[in-house]
Amino acid sequence: MLSFEYHNPTRYVFGEGEHRNIGSLLRPLTDRVLLHYGGGSIKRSGLYDTIVKSLTAAGITFCELGGVKPNPSVSLVKEGIELCRNEGISFVLAVGGGSVIDSAKAIALGVPHSGDVWKLYTREESLSASPLPVACVLTLPAAGSENSPNTVLTHEESTRKLGYGHPALRPVLSVVDPTLFLTLPGNQMANGAADMLCHIFERYFSNTPDTELSDALCEATMRTIMQQAVLLKKEPDNVKAWGQLALSGTIAHNNLLGVGREQSWACHALEHELSAVYDVPHGAGLAVIVPAYLEAMMPHNPGIFMQWATNVMGVQHNRNTAEVIREGIRRLRAWYVSLGLPQTMQELGIPEDADFAGMARAACVLKGGIENPHLPGIHAVSPAECERIYRACAQA
Ligand code: NZQ
Ligand code: ZN
Repeated sequence: MLSFEYHNPTRYVFGEGEHRNIGSLLRPLTDRVLLHYGGGSIKRSGLYDTIVKSLTAAGITFCELGGVKPNPSVSLVKEGIELCRNEGISFVLAVGGGSVIDSAKAIALGVPHSGDVWKLYTREESLSASPLPVACVLTLPAAGSENSPNTVLTHEESTRKLGYGHPALRPVLSVVDPTLFLTLPGNQMANGAADMLCHIFERYFSNTPDTELSDALCEATMRTIMQQAVLLKKEPDNVKAWGQLALSGTIAHNNLLGVGREQSWACHALEHELSAVYDVPHGAGLAVIVPAYLEAMMPHNPGIFMQWATNVMGVQHNRNTAEVIREGIRRLRAWYVSLGLPQTMQELGIPEDADFAGMARAACVLKGGIENPHLPGIHAVSPAECERIYRACAQA
């Protein structure tokens, strides 16, 4: 196990009906917020009215900015920054899924920053002042942004999708109420479960030795995500299952499972290129990328893949290692399919003549730099290998 420091200051409030208390939960922290939300689901469900009522009852005033799209854009973030500056707002409340929370974090970064917020993501600038605090009411368990220090943003003109991390971006308060997930369409549950699972893959498939505890925590969380997603596919109104899935999604990405381990983030780098260019949902893109990536990586550390196939995918240990691992990957594909997730580029709407070489190079430069472009992980993946992984997804 590697040395590490772990600091997680988010006040995490979980429970049925807890969203109604957002005003009183926020009141010790602020009396004025930017209320940030997405494309309309919170208005259709009545959540918007409940939040406004709760804020008003607690004496919290607000300005609002809706319209965050999945794969949130820099342009709306810049609008939010201007609004906060003009209105003297220094606290952002996100009500939504990962896209809304990430957009809120970007606004929180940009308000006190003296430069261009996008240049923080491109690493052309360094942050000039501490970000504003962010709180959230989660409406979609998936990205883990409710307890992560990260934000991911898309620059539409340059078709780039980049992440930025800062310890102060972990929300100061996250309200996770499983009753809010009952309005989600089935494909969002599946996308979310695929994303959560991949957050663990990026940490679990590692060459770091002596990680028995975090291996076991990862394995338990992976099994829970897979089981609860299957249950929710059959019973979308099962609030208890939503609760278990949501807690798993938070644990999957708050880095408790990644401490002391070398991490990869290769699948995310490959997927973010697809989202940036073709605007595909993040979880669906990962469902396509992951099996091909695992197949390419398994020869480089068969031990950890064998452990996963037996402990998570339930494969009997009664044949040769490669067969056990391949059976694990086959079962993973079957799980994706059972949730209605895509398994090919074609199903994602990505054409056969897509610029896979260009996307592979961009992903490798992002992770490894221009001098040594590669994706880190169990094995350092070159741009040519990345391209082969993309092409394997096109033919799956
Ligand atoms: O915009 P509205 O109308 O609210 O609709 C949303 C959106 O269309 C809808 N939705 C959300 N809650 C709902 C609901 N519909 C009905 N009922 C509800 N309760 O769901 C759609 C998708 O929402 P979105 O927020 O885009 O999904 P998700 O939570 O999967 O977030 C994806 C984004 O998170 C980033 C991804 O790259 C992607 O941009 N990620 C962020 C991470 C982080 N900050 O740590 C890590 C992740 O790996 C990921 O990269
Ligand atoms: Zn993700």
